Amino acid sequence: MKILLTGGAGYIGSHTAIELKKAGHEIVIGDNFSNSKPDVLEKINQIVGQKIEFHEIDFTNQNDTLKLFEECHFDAVIHFAGLKAVGESCTMPIEYYKNNIDSTLNIVEAMKKYDVNNLVFSSSATVYGIPKKLPLKEGMPTSCTNPYGWTKLMNEQILTDVTRANPKFSVVLLRYFNPIGAHESGLIGEDPNGIPNNLMPYITKVAKGVLPELNVFGNDYPTKDGTGVRDYIHVVDLAKGHVDAIEYAEKHRGVEIFNLGTGVGYSVLDIVNTFSRVNNIKVPYRIAERRDGDVAECYADAGKAREVLNWSATKTLDDMCKDSWNFAKNN
Ligand code: NAD
Ligand code: UD1
Repeated sequence: MKILLTGGAGYIGSHTAIELKKAGHEIVIGDNFSNSKPDVLEKINQIVGQKIEFHEIDFTNQNDTLKLFEECHFDAVIHFAGLKAVGESCTMPIEYYKNNIDSTLNIVEAMKKYDVNNLVFSSSATVYGIPKKLPLKEGMPTSCTNPYGWTKLMNEQILTDVTRANPKFSVVLLRYFNPIGAHESGLIGEDPNGIPNNLMPYITKVAKGVLPELNVFGNDYPTKDGTGVRDYIHVVDLAKGHVDAIEYAEKHRGVEIFNLGTGVGYSVLDIVNTFSRVNNIKVPYRIAERRDGDVAECYADAGKAREVLNWSATKTLDDMCKDSWNFAKNN
């Protein structure tokens, strides 16, 4: 298939580009570099041994989006492009709704006009809100606690309605849990600007000595060691899930939702201790107040993706911690 990757220069999109090429697909990346850098493209080219077609484009621009579809004749789209910082979405809700919703509307409009009928969308475990029961299954109730989360839930609704109205259309909504890790080459990985919000990029900055210590947000949760538990998944496993999802979309019509997680929860201290052990590097930390909006535990039931897509995560927490450091220490 010829597949457009919106936001393909970003963290998950760049790893997915490589897995799609390996699976024999033709890919085209569109990105506005609002949260990525052009040199990622060189790194992808280096890894796949070929120059990937790239278009600098903002998908909130309707004319540019239509023009791209007119020129390129895609068979499918994987829509990663979006703003993703939860805290920032609370202070900049207009920018978040505009960017994340307008881009989706422009993409589905262009898909309709140019008869492109297969879409995979990057959703998030955040749409489960505060979990009432674990593990989280796709059919469980959804709700959100911040504008970023609402953009994901609204996009899920938009795509469901668009699919209901068009019998040719096929959409796979992927709800990611907590992606960490990096490509084994160490060439691409997650490299956020400024002080990171998420755990693994914070740990790697502490390990590099850029930040003095990790703040562990709370040690009085009802978990095995009192710290928050999450379902961390290696970004390469996640990327492979997209290959299965887009191939599924091509063969089926309608909407399907899949959790992409390992189904296993690890605590903050599990991550710190594993990172220290496998990389032989100290990560100084202190126990701090709980972070507003955090839940004690969140992990997936990954059974549906295993049964329907024949996909499951294979990489271990050791792999995730090694690969995160292998990328971070050189970048
Ligand atoms: P990322 O920020 O690294 O990648 C997103 C890419 O989209 C960036 O390269 C950015 O420049 C681009 N972009 C944003 N708005 C654009 C626009 N209007 N036009 C063109 N390009 C645009 O993020 P990521 O971690 O790779 O996440 C990819 C997707 O997965 C996002 O939609 C994100 O919300 C979702 N997601 C991510 C996580 C996570 O933990 N990383 C978890 C759940 C869901
Ligand atoms: C975050 C996003 C969520 C997104 C998910 C997947 C927030 C509030 N939520 O979830 O929308 O779907 O990423 O990528 O940003 N922690 C510390 N110290 C730190 C950073 C984190 O102790 O400096 C702890 C947190 O309290 C949590 C765990 O580490 O228990 C993971 O945090 P984080 O990486 O930010 O991910 P989530 O909060 O699960």
